Amino acid sequence: MLPKINPTQTTAWKNLHEHFAQNDFDLRTLFQNNLERFQQFSIKREDYLFDFSKNLIDQKTFDLLQNLVEECDLKSAISAMFSGDKINETEGRAVLHTALRDFSDKEILVDGENIKPAIKRVLDQMKTFSEKIISGEHKGFSGKEITDVVNIGIGGSDLGPVMVCSALKHFKTRLNVHFVSNVDGNHIAEVTKDLNPETTLFIIASKTFTTQETITNAESAKDWFLKAGKQEEVAKHFVALSTNIEAVKNFGIAEENIFEFWDWVGGRYSLWSAIGLSIVLSVGYENFEQLLKGANETDTHFQTAAFTENVPVIMALTGIWYRNFFDAGTYAILPYSQYLDRFAAYLQQGDMESNGKCVDRNGEFVEYETGPIIWGEPGTNGQHAFYQLIHQGTELIPADFIAYAKSCNVVSDHQEILMANFFAQTEALAFGKTEEEVRAELAKSGLSEEEIERLVNYKVFHGNTPTNSIIFNELTPFSLGQLIALYEHKIFVQGIIWNIFSFDQFGVELGKVLAGKILSELKNTEPVISHDSSTNGLIQYFKEKK
Ligand code: F6P
Repeated sequence: MLPKINPTQTTAWKNLHEHFAQNDFDLRTLFQNNLERFQQFSIKREDYLFDFSKNLIDQKTFDLLQNLVEECDLKSAISAMFSGDKINETEGRAVLHTALRDFSDKEILVDGENIKPAIKRVLDQMKTFSEKIISGEHKGFSGKEITDVVNIGIGGSDLGPVMVCSALKHFKTRLNVHFVSNVDGNHIAEVTKDLNPETTLFIIASKTFTTQETITNAESAKDWFLKAGKQEEVAKHFVALSTNIEAVKNFGIAEENIFEFWDWVGGRYSLWSAIGLSIVLSVGYENFEQLLKGANETDTHFQTAAFTENVPVIMALTGIWYRNFFDAGTYAILPYSQYLDRFAAYLQQGDMESNGKCVDRNGEFVEYETGPIIWGEPGTNGQHAFYQLIHQGTELIPADFIAYAKSCNVVSDHQEILMANFFAQTEALAFGKTEEEVRAELAKSGLSEEEIERLVNYKVFHGNTPTNSIIFNELTPFSLGQLIALYEHKIFVQGIIWNIFSFDQFGVELGKVLAGKILSELKNTEPVISHDSSTNGLIQYFKEKK
């Protein structure tokens, strides 16, 4: 069981409030007064550097935040999760995505049964299957090798694999892996239009195997396939990844083509499970195993490092500091790597579906803020789109900057230019440009006093925007696994402190139920009168125009 402590009732929280009110946390002053600040507030690990010195904290803030994790009993929460306690209490499930990447001999029990042999069995199945597909040994119905793989899934059955396949493009096998998620028919139409059913493999990825979008897309994929192949040839071209074996069989996929996983793997934490099959086909089994091992390295760090040196814990604490004390409603994820183009989108589900909650673990509505809005795009593109608002808008937007020291592709001096921008942005965000500096600069460029007066405020950068910088040595499957797991644990720690249940997602249900009801109304010609006037009007308009 998880502790059920209201964070605002802790001594640390009260002290943090006092401390917040008494200080202005000016980064210029903090750096000027402490020449050791980088050494004090950064952590060098073998594969990456985590610099959190550009946060609006001093040693006292750090100590009080550390007191907060102690008082919220993070230690027992971590051991409850890793040992398989049913910490997803509202759904009565264990939370064990970490077991999927644990290659040790240690037993992990769920309901008294060691889950490690089953994990190994499915990994072996993924290995054998992927090797047959990649080598061309597995042939499609007309005897040709598979060239294209289409993963059909949504949410956690899509975003993780999409993000990883994009991030690890450099390690690609000969297969082209595509993704269909949206129930918008244009998605499947566009993906299949250049594919050949003889050489295409469909992966139907759905934990529940009841998700409307996925089942609709899967049926359409089968229709598309059956225009060329026969019913008895479906087995060569369709596999499923699911916890719901019965539903998969009812859909018409043979038992030997099912890759199983279990209810103790949350959808948004499932890329490490059979849901990762598209990743395995995209980059090969060895690279997938490296991804798992990288995540496991972070798991070990998370469980064993002192909280003062624990990267995900510190990421979580600084996030709480901004959310609950500075009232920052959003958090930006800014990877300086085109390979991480889907990383922010992936984390949106990871973070917002986990911590977008307003009821605490005692069943009471919370009286403090919980999960922020997560968003972002890769740099340098974002610089030319939304950084203006971060630099000069009225919101405080904390951000994580993520980069790789070595580039996978050395193209003239692109990497230095990319990283110059990375460093420049974190520096500019932290220290800005003061009125005095702007005045001096404008005077130097020959502007009159009057012109300077007119322009000065527009050119001031308030600075004091906090950032974390994470620089990995290089982008590999291993380091990507490390990075993803850092965020998973950051989310976990924040959920523990906010005293919410991070592993359910009841908030997605209402829309699903209403959509089911409305769908039947869209299929008849009756006038729609059962809703409010806006919804009736919108539906009516659609029915007239479709
Ligand atoms: O939208 C909610 C959700 O349940 C997510 O949590 C999940 O990742 C997604 O739908 C897909 O679910 P499934 O894998 O069961 O199709």
